[in-house]
Amino acid sequence: MTHTLRRLRLLKLLDRPLLLMAGGLTARNYPANPVPYRADSTFLYFFGHVEPEAAALLDPADASVTLFLPARTVDDAVWHGAQSTFEQVQEAEGVSQVLPLEQLETFAQKKLGSRPLDALAVSDFKATARAARLCGQPLDFDDPAHFGRPQALQAIASLRLRKEAAELEAMAFTAEVTRSAHLTAIEASRPGVTEQELTGLVEGTFARAGCVPAYNTILSVRGEVLHNHSHRGTLHAGDIVLLDGGAEGPTGYCSDVTRCWPVGGPFTPEGRDVYDLVLAANLAAVAAVKPGVRYRDVHLTSARVIAQGLQAMGLLFKGSVDGLVEAGAHAMFYPHGVGHQIGLDVHDLEPFGDQVLYPGGRARSPQFGTRFLRMDMDLEEGMTFTIEPGVYFVPAIIHSREFRQQFRAQVDFDKADHFLQLNSGRGFGGIRLEDDVLCTSSGARVLTAAIPRARADIEALCVS
Ligand code: GLY
Ligand code: MN
Ligand code: MN
Repeated sequence: MTHTLRRLRLLKLLDRPLLLMAGGLTARNYPANPVPYRADSTFLYFFGHVEPEAAALLDPADASVTLFLPARTVDDAVWHGAQSTFEQVQEAEGVSQVLPLEQLETFAQKKLGSRPLDALAVSDFKATARAARLCGQPLDFDDPAHFGRPQALQAIASLRLRKEAAELEAMAFTAEVTRSAHLTAIEASRPGVTEQELTGLVEGTFARAGCVPAYNTILSVRGEVLHNHSHRGTLHAGDIVLLDGGAEGPTGYCSDVTRCWPVGGPFTPEGRDVYDLVLAANLAAVAAVKPGVRYRDVHLTSARVIAQGLQAMGLLFKGSVDGLVEAGAHAMFYPHGVGHQIGLDVHDLEPFGDQVLYPGGRARSPQFGTRFLRMDMDLEEGMTFTIEPGVYFVPAIIHSREFRQQFRAQVDFDKADHFLQLNSGRGFGGIRLEDDVLCTSSGARVLTAAIPRARADIEALCVS
């Protein structure tokens, strides 16, 4: 019923017929050994029955929805188990009809005649190529300019952006699984344990709950590498572990959460200062959330808190905090945006591009750091997004001749260098605190609030 209602809403918004593809299986090495299947998120949003290769034609002229599925064969039933029949799928989904996939082109040509057709690119390039041939438009999943026609993208985004109760329930479930995974990793951390062992615990916790990692788990004592996918390190006393890990549930909704903790005891004085600062930035950004607020201003709120704290620590020189943030000096330690939409995609709707995520002709900042702010929408009730400020000591930034020159009047690079020598030369690393929030009429509701975050709680959990 949920999916039928969503399709009806979409049909009312469409000005042209629309072809949606679920995408097929991708081979891991040889074709019979595919990577685990994940249907396209827009297809998941509009259909409960998703199987590889499925396609759907939605026609606003008669409000019909025709689903196309691979023909059922004895061989498939023998090797992969029997699938629901077309009749069963039609009844369960409430679509107009279900036809064999091989009839997609002939059916579309007959039904549409000379009417133009819209389609969206999906990550499976073969399905994208098939859709592009049918609609006669170039489609490219990696190029937002060719992801789909803007009118179709806007229609879909307007529905996917505001989460309904069922979607929030799915995200509450993944938040709980994610909580359990983070606690397991924190409690198992001690000197000598490897990042790989902890990653196994995190992803095993997801699997036991019927979930998968929503993205490649980031678990590292090298937290200054923002998307560090290596797990080759070993924990040493004095290290700070950064875990950016979130579960994806059976319906495709997910969580995206980062927590950080010290190995083998409480935080060092420097660790404490940075942790408290990042938490203050997280809380200030969360407090800034309410309908009508521009997300870039939430980002700037977090940037100002961080700039002020870095001044207090002597890493930024005295001067106007606004001036430091305008110049981009904070990005020497906070080189990314405050977050992104979240839902079915971890970075929800990111393939739709800035035409959706930077609406009304808003443009990305060209500045280092802030240019990674992945959306700049006016917040609306029902939107879910992350709040994830961080402070990092990145050798590539601190040693950059260009940045040293550009920010010589704002940044104490010698002091920053000192942070690279801490922890017996292993360096400070980085701290990010990431939560998923829902914008409500009265402000933010933190969907991941049950995952410990107060410094005292974190330290109590990880003292060995
Ligand atoms: N986990 C990726 C991110 O936080 O955006
Ligand atoms: Mn995130
Ligand atoms: Mn994350």
